Amino acid sequence: MCGIVGYIGHDNTAIKTVLKGLYRLEYRGYDSAGLAYAESGQIKIKRAKGAVSGLNDKCKQIGPQTLAIGHTRWATHGKPSEENAHPHVSFKRELALVHNGIIENYKYLKEILKDEGYIFSSETDTEVLANWIEHAKLRYDLALEDAVHEALKGVHGAYAIAVLDSTGQKIVCAKKSSPLAIGIGEKEYIIGSDATPIIGMAKDVIYLEDDQIAVVTKDDLKIRDIDNNDTSYKAEKLLLDLQAVEKKGFDSFMMKEINEQPETVADCLRGRLTAPGPEIALGGIEAVMPSLLRARKIIIVACGTSWHSALIGKYMIEGLTRIPVEVDYASEFRYRRPIIDSEDVVIGITQSGETADTKAALELAKTKGALILGIVNVVGSSIARLSHAGIYTHSGVEVGVASTKAFTGQVAALSLLAIKLAYRLGYIDDEKLMDLKDALEEIPSQIQEILDDSTAIEGIADIFSQYEDFLFLGRGISFPVALEGALKLKEISYIHAEAYPAGEMKHGPIALIDEACPSIFVMPKDNTYGKTLSNLQEIKARSGRVIAITDVVDEDLVNSVDAVVVVPKTLPELTPLLTTVPLQIFSHRVAIKRSRNVDKPRNLAKSVTVE
Ligand code: M6R
Repeated sequence: MCGIVGYIGHDNTAIKTVLKGLYRLEYRGYDSAGLAYAESGQIKIKRAKGAVSGLNDKCKQIGPQTLAIGHTRWATHGKPSEENAHPHVSFKRELALVHNGIIENYKYLKEILKDEGYIFSSETDTEVLANWIEHAKLRYDLALEDAVHEALKGVHGAYAIAVLDSTGQKIVCAKKSSPLAIGIGEKEYIIGSDATPIIGMAKDVIYLEDDQIAVVTKDDLKIRDIDNNDTSYKAEKLLLDLQAVEKKGFDSFMMKEINEQPETVADCLRGRLTAPGPEIALGGIEAVMPSLLRARKIIIVACGTSWHSALIGKYMIEGLTRIPVEVDYASEFRYRRPIIDSEDVVIGITQSGETADTKAALELAKTKGALILGIVNVVGSSIARLSHAGIYTHSGVEVGVASTKAFTGQVAALSLLAIKLAYRLGYIDDEKLMDLKDALEEIPSQIQEILDDSTAIEGIADIFSQYEDFLFLGRGISFPVALEGALKLKEISYIHAEAYPAGEMKHGPIALIDEACPSIFVMPKDNTYGKTLSNLQEIKARSGRVIAITDVVDEDLVNSVDAVVVVPKTLPELTPLLTTVPLQIFSHRVAIKRSRNVDKPRNLAKSVTVE
């Protein structure tokens, strides 16, 4: 969950570069931040509780440095505090270390170290790891990289680490299960938990594999394999530009990302709808199409917002292809002894491609012989690499912790997959295929229409921003949209919000309804519209206030509700791509009215790399 940055090079810009990288990685955790460097044969550290700006203030007096490592933390072991912040310096001050992940056997290692006289100053598993490496280094008189290799043999858990010693000659990195990237610049190397600190500094990047160790000096990068032998590596081109990590004039990344959706959905569709012939082109799954078409069932695993898009995918795929689809929380999947075999297809949906639960679920499914597909945003991420095949969503870097453009990208990718399968299986003919393709093609400009009208939605949000409880309701494919609307509101405004299928209301939740608990109905005019309208009337009859998100101007509806947002019309299968957008704008505005930090909501982190 945490962010790691490192710099080593001939320029004296290490501190500035590491701080800049930490600002960019702050979305991965913002409980505390710190950095370490080596000066005159000694390790120096600066740490601060809270945001990177606090650390920045403490670093103003540091002189020019050629190497440094830094960290922004999302607490796992030990509360957010300066003592628990990374880097951790080992007991005998031989080395400093930053870590993302969890050391599962840290208590066991700590007891061994205590018996050897080690004293600990924090509650973290990371300090244990720093001391464990130091212990190996001193015991066997090893170079730093050899000590890291030796020590990691006894470590269980997930880690991405960057370590420096007091000589200030090198940074040693290692990883298992948590991501680590190294940018290769002009006479300099930049290390990052992901590529964001590297953008604009290096054109080439390598993503370290599990069990590899990287030894980075000012002039050289060497990668060692699990047996500590030098191994070759291949750098990839880093295609992201600086705009991806800047706010482009918006007040928040979240608002920027909401506004990017016409472009990002178009990017997801680009080249896939316009391929020669009627078919939808999804190059990443072409090789496995025969297995996909034979699938006995599809299981989709995901977390959070991605789980909501998985539910939408279920409606789309089952509706269009008649292939049964199960959707599971990735965190539940592996512990329920799932029934999977080699005739099943398991799809993981993930923005980051690093979510630990999703990754673990897919790894389990892989051992059962299932075909693994990834619907992933981050190119080259762990889940992209472990999947047999997949579809990139091409939504670009999403910095806001609350997922917006990644969600619509996932839904767009799922619609492409569902349509492609349905056409190949013969469930839709050329005419229906063309209708769906035409409708998809219009989605980006229809999203733009909604964005152009965002002031009206914000006006509604202003009126409703004082309420403390909300219900979000929808039927069919609009139910997961309601779930996503509720999640967006609760995660950035801290307002209690729940979502139900509208038909479930009268089985219990309607007891919550009074003037103080407004309902937001997601109700495009599909086959469930009439029923949903009746559910809405039931709420009105109990003095509930109602906002409706629909795609039809219906007098009955307008007369019944307190506010209505009308989105452009599309085919029923595709309505989530439009009805979601007003809910994003609504939540963002309510959170701003409540002075919340929409990009960095409390307790959350963007990339959840621990289970
Ligand atoms: O990177 P992933 O899509 O795998 O992340 C899954 C969830 O952690 C993520 O969607 C989370 O729910 C967001 N904060 C929602 O806005």
